[in-house]
Amino acid sequence: MDTTRTHQLKDGRTLTIREAAPDDAAAIVAYLQQVPYESPYLGFGPGEFTTTVEQEVAIIEDHIQSDNKIFLIGLIDGEIASVNNFAGGHRQRSRHVGEFGITVREKYWGHGIASHMLTLLLDWAKSTGIVRKINLVTRVDNHGAIHVYKKLGFVQEGVHRRSMYLDGTFYDAIFMGIDID
Ligand SMILES: CC(C)(COP(=O)(O)OP(=O)(O)OC[C@H]1O[C@@H](n2cnc3c(N)ncnc32)[C@H](O)[C@@H]1OP(=O)(O)O)[C@@H](O)C(=O)NCCC(=O)NCCS
Repeated sequence: MDTTRTHQLKDGRTLTIREAAPDDAAAIVAYLQQVPYESPYLGFGPGEFTTTVEQEVAIIEDHIQSDNKIFLIGLIDGEIASVNNFAGGHRQRSRHVGEFGITVREKYWGHGIASHMLTLLLDWAKSTGIVRKINLVTRVDNHGAIHVYKKLGFVQEGVHRRSMYLDGTFYDAIFMGIDID
């Protein structure tokens, strides 16, 4: 299927979503170094995203070459506003299932970007005929993200206690999933 889409956002700006190419690696690394400064909900904190541009190129190429992986970026005025990647398993018994991660730059929160990104992910998953289950993990108090996931049909499947430790506090993680039929 065509994995490039454009959307007019509420503020009139245009969001372009497409698959990441190797040439995007440096901008993606810079983006992923920035987002932990903007949200406490990620699994990595400021300074902890240590993937190099060369490693990111390899990750992007692996997603392009795999029929059960996709690496989406959302762009506004040529700048990365969102990154969303999904990877299915590499063994026969787990090829149909995988997990995604999604981030949106803080200045773009609340404009519908995550909803557009994940709608494309779900449409792509249906089109593969391979991906039959999508999972995600999020902090139990990440209410905005949980709202988006439920709106798109994800349901809670379980809780891992003490999944994150930050500033002296333990946080539980919610496991959510959606069947792709
Ligand atoms: C979570 C995140 C991806 C959402 O992206 P976004 O582009 O702002 O999401 P959208 O604009 O598509 O949707 C936000 C929705 O959540 C709702 N929302 C926002 N904050 C909320 C809150 N505290 N409680 C309940 N709902 C909330 C909005 O009203 C909106 O609802 P709607 O779609 O019914 O109008 C973004 O905030 C982000 O990147 N956060 C930091 C990283 C992160 O947490 N990633 C997910 C880790 S699992």
